[in-house]
Amino acid sequence: MKKFLMILSLVGLFVLLSENTQAQDKDGIKLVFADADSQLDYSLEAMTIINNKCYGCHSPSGRSDDAKEALLWMELQTNEQEDIIASLDEIVEVLEEGEMPPPKIVEKYPNMKMTDDEIATLKAWAESQLSVLMGE
Ligand code: HEC
Repeated sequence: MKKFLMILSLVGLFVLLSENTQAQDKDGIKLVFADADSQLDYSLEAMTIINNKCYGCHSPSGRSDDAKEALLWMELQTNEQEDIIASLDEIVEVLEEGEMPPPKIVEKYPNMKMTDDEIATLKAWAESQLSVLMGE
């Protein structure tokens, strides 16, 4: 059994390493955030945070229409440049204000709370993408 688990985790690692545009969360769901047309460049750290703390609501399978209307990560990368910039600005803002994930959800599911590190990392990612898009 132990050997089987080891082989399984090695296969998992291989999958993770061989597909550098995909992230695999702890439930094994793979998310593709970047493709050939993408104007955004995701670090693995940023992708992991998005995957764990944002993606559940801001993806087609999310339950809240408001959340989907506000932001869909899969569409973000291929939107018009000015729309991407507007979304990145909003992302920076909600992180600075501690508005996301919504406080009500964090109260109910404390593991959804963003750590200071996660806030800083995701904010730095959004700002780095903003500078690239705005040609700074
Ligand atoms: C539990 C569901 C949920 C999670 C998790 C969540 N959001 Fe949201 N988000 C919403 C909802 C609902 C709205 C729309 C209503 C609102 O603005 O509060 C929204 C709105 C937004 C907006 C638009 C805000 C505006 O000013 O219009 C941004 C940007 C955003 N979310 C980013 C994020 C980021 C970044 C994360 C992860 C750190 C995240 N969200 C996690 C539910 C969620």
